[in-house]
Amino acid sequence: MSEIVLQIDGREVKAAESMTILDAARSAGIPIPTLCSHEKLEAYGACRICVVETETFGRKRLVAACVYPAERNMVVMTRSERVDRTRRVILEEMLAHAPDSVELHKLAEEYGANKDRFEKEPSFCILCGLCVRYCAEIKKKDAIGFVDRGAKREISFIAEIASRECWNCKECFPLCPTSALQAAYVLVEALAFPGAESKP
Ligand code: SF4
Ligand code: FES
Repeated sequence: MSEIVLQIDGREVKAAESMTILDAARSAGIPIPTLCSHEKLEAYGACRICVVETETFGRKRLVAACVYPAERNMVVMTRSERVDRTRRVILEEMLAHAPDSVELHKLAEEYGANKDRFEKEPSFCILCGLCVRYCAEIKKKDAIGFVDRGAKREISFIAEIASRECWNCKECFPLCPTSALQAAYVLVEALAFPGAESKP
């Protein structure tokens, strides 16, 4: 696999041609925040918090670092004014949906996001898809999925599968950046299979 050289935050970084900007930055110890990315899962590109500014042949653009490939001679800025402004707005929108998320609060501090900019519409889920994808891609169980579309889109446990598979797994719980997943599980457990916690 051939090696390329690009510039990230003024540093020369060597990367394999197949790497994303996120992979290349991480290999050089340069941090980029992520919410929907996980090293064991396929890239998803949903949350956009990993946005960075790139410059190629004098053309600047914002791209999602977790899905965008690193390119030869590309110039990447992980903390330009435009990047920080974009991350700030993304966080402000997410905090309207998940106002109690500790992870979002930490990022909001870092980027100076106004936690109360948008009217609260708590769904507690930011639709990062980590739980859904982890269950499908790693556990191959599909015990949780997305239902509905647009503003009504949400995650939902499939009770028949969850009652069999989830009670002694719960590996997806720590992945959730909000409290939505545990709340959804408690609900489905109470409604569909009470007492599963006490299974042998
Ligand atoms: S429940 Fe949590 S992990 Fe699942 S999609 Fe929503 S925020 Fe992401
Ligand atoms: S981490 Fe890149 S889009 Fe979510």
